[in-house]
Parts: sequence; structure tokens; C-alpha cells
Amino acid sequence: MAHKQIFVIGAGAMAEAFIRGVTKAGVARPQDIRVINRSRVERLTKLVQQYGVQAAASWSDATGADLVVLAVKPADVTEALRLAAPHLNRPLLLSFAAGVNQSYIADRCPGVGTVRAMPNLPVSVQCGVTAVAYGPGVSEVDRAYVFELLSALGDVVEIPEHLMDAATAVSGSGPGFLSYFLEGMEAAAIRLGFSPELARKLLVKTMAGTALTLSEWGVSPETLRQRVMSPKGTTEAGVKQLDAGYVRGYVYEAVLAAAARSAEMGKAYQLAPSESNQGD
Ligand SMILES: NC(=O)c1ccc[n+]([C@@H]2O[C@H](COP(=O)([O-])OP(=O)(O)OC[C@H]3O[C@@H](n4cnc5c(N)ncnc54)[C@H](OP(=O)(O)O)[C@@H]3O)[C@@H](O)[C@H]2O)c1
Repeated sequence: MAHKQIFVIGAGAMAEAFIRGVTKAGVARPQDIRVINRSRVERLTKLVQQYGVQAAASWSDATGADLVVLAVKPADVTEALRLAAPHLNRPLLLSFAAGVNQSYIADRCPGVGTVRAMPNLPVSVQCGVTAVAYGPGVSEVDRAYVFELLSALGDVVEIPEHLMDAATAVSGSGPGFLSYFLEGMEAAAIRLGFSPELARKLLVKTMAGTALTLSEWGVSPETLRQRVMSPKGTTEAGVKQLDAGYVRGYVYEAVLAAAARSAEMGKAYQLAPSESNQGD
């Protein structure tokens, strides 16, 4: 069977995470991946040297692609699609661009099958989670292919496109929120006498271990907390302090604020309902 040809637009952090993940997992061969970048030659050179992918000679290299991966910032999507569209031979187009609706892409690249993905930062270490929404008309075979590729970056969950802002807030911004919490814990650990290195080591392992325990036991965060929190004990003393500061409520509001911001940022990349040719 012929190997599928992949054309990646952009040579930034997300493109690299994708290329590293799929080549490391062996779900795509480096020689089948072509990458185009706008201006930073050194980024493209790095990907070529480090992963063995090909630098695209021009946009016309996209013509033979089975899959086009859009890995540019949302503000650069319109221009990238304008440059790519004349060369696309009805491929599947996987977009990582936050906030950009599939209908916006389909409108600019008629005939492509669209897939929209929202990965999070841990995809860089193949331990992320990617929320994915398939456009109408994407076949089961193509869905399975994209699922296999994205699984090389971590877990994959399928969602309807209207939940993309929610996914952006929960799993996309999630690593930022958890790190914010850890910042406070790290400062306290140092105040209590640990070196920054030891404090970091204790906290990182605590976070990773907590995530693994939640996943393996299949229990809720509340259940896990109750397991740690004995009456009148140390955890309870700390949680009382958090409750006094309404921290849980603020965390809740923080996630809602992130989702609202995602929706606001995406407004520029939505078609008016009358223009739309794709639903969720
Ligand atoms: N990084 C993440 O963890 C993450 C997570 C979720 C979603 N995303 C999404 O992934 C997308 C890429 O993010 P990123 O972090 O990888 O950004 P990035 O590091 O800034 O990379 C963007 C790349 O796109 C290239 N580019 C821009 N316009 C182009 C054009 N017209 N033709 C070809 N290449 C072009 C840039 O080239 P130059 O450098 O030469 O300008 C740059 O290499 C964004 O839409 C973001 O929302 C990223």
C-alpha cells in the first residue's frame, strides 16, 4: 500500500510536536512528510536535520498530499490557506489553529475534508490530550487515519466542534492553570526550607503521580482528595485555607473566562450563518 503523503504548513512548536510524535511512533515516515515555512529558515532546517523530513520546494508540493496539516497561528491562517488552496488536490486538512472554524477553512479550500484539533502543550512529550472534531463527509477510514496520527501525541477525544472553546479552556489552558497552582506550592515549599530543585522534584512527581492515580483508579478528584484528607489532619488544614479564599469558585470562573475568551478570539474565523456550508 502506498504511504500517505503529508504536507505540513508551519515549522513552529506545534508542527514539531506533530512531526516528532508521528515519526517516533512510526505512524508516518519522515520521507513522506514535507514542510513549508514562511520565513524562519532555521526552524525548517532544524526539522529537516532532526527528524529527516523534507523541506517543501514550493506550495506546489502540496498537490500530492493526502493530508495537509495546518500549524500556523490563527492570525496567519487566512494567508496560509490563500497560498495553499490553488495546489490542493482534495486532501484531508487537519487544522491545529485555535478558534478557526472548519467552515472557514472549507470555504477557502473547496473540496477538502476538514478535521479540527485542539491539542495541549504535553503533546510535545507525547503525553498530551487532543480534542478532535471531524467535518462532515470525512470517511471512517480518514477518521481512523487521523486518530492514529494524533494518538502518537497522547490521548485523543472526539467532540462536536461547538465544544472546541470548552476544550481550549479545559485541556488547552489546563497545563497553565495547573502550573499556576504549582507556582504557589513551589514558593511555599522553598519557604519551608527546600532548595528550588528539590521543591520542583517533589511537586512534579506529586502532580504526575496524582494524575496517574486518578486515571488508574478511575475515581473523581473529590474522592481522591477525601482519601488524602483525614479529619483534623494536614490536608484539611490546607483545604480550609483554600476554601476561605473561595479558590474552588475562582478556579471555576477561570475556566469559564478562558472559554469565553476562546469564543471571542474565534469570532474573526467564523462564517456568517448564511455563508456557512458546514455544521458541527
Ligand atoms: N504549541 C502548542 O502547544 C499548541 C497547542 C494548541 C494549539 N496550537 C495551535 O497550533 C498553531 C501553531 O502554533 P505554534 O505554537 O506552533 O506557533 P509557532 O511556533 O509560532 O509556529 C507557527 C509557524 O507557522 C509559520 N507560518 C506562518 N504563516 C505561514 C505561511 N503563510 N506559510 C507557511 N508557514 C507560515 C511560521 O513561520 P515563521 O516562523 O517563518 O514566521 C511558524 O513557523 C496555532 O494556531 C495554535 O493555536 C498550538
